[in-house]
Amino acid sequence: MDTPSAMDSIAVFRILHVLGILLLTGFTFAAFADQSRTRRRTLLIVSGTSSLIAMISGFGLSGILKIGFPLWIVVKIVCWLGLSALAGISYRKPGCFNLWTCLTVALLVLALIMVYIQPFSSGFEGP
Ligand code: HEM
Repeated sequence: MDTPSAMDSIAVFRILHVLGILLLTGFTFAAFADQSRTRRRTLLIVSGTSSLIAMISGFGLSGILKIGFPLWIVVKIVCWLGLSALAGISYRKPGCFNLWTCLTVALLVLALIMVYIQPFSSGFEGP
């Protein structure tokens, strides 16, 4: 059985992970919607920081829950890489709002399927 302090840190990592993903998604959409040079730097910094929080807490959860790196985690890492790159890509290739939006939603859906359905695991082991 987990000790109270282990349970506390799991809760903190979970909150940071989901918060990081929510902020990353929000700031990514903000970057798609506002392509002006004035906001560009700020949006890239805040989306990059959110991405870092999501990634560090994700690896923290994987370690603390002794999950390791099964295929569903690897797929999530790929989704996270894609999601983290999209704000920057949208500035380099403006005018593709619909494409970047669809890609963002697809990466999020794929990552969520990996956590809650875990298609590569024999039984359901999700949170
Ligand atoms: C697009 C990227 C990602 C999304 C949308 C996402 C989303 C989520 C969500 C919603 C949860 C469930 C939280 C809960 O109910 O407690 C979760 C858990 C988790 N995520 Fe992520 N995540 C992403 C990227 C990552 C990355 C890069 C890692 C790196 C290792 C990671 C590792 C984990 C782990 C280990 C858990 C805990 C699973 C469990 O409680 O059994 N995630 N993620």
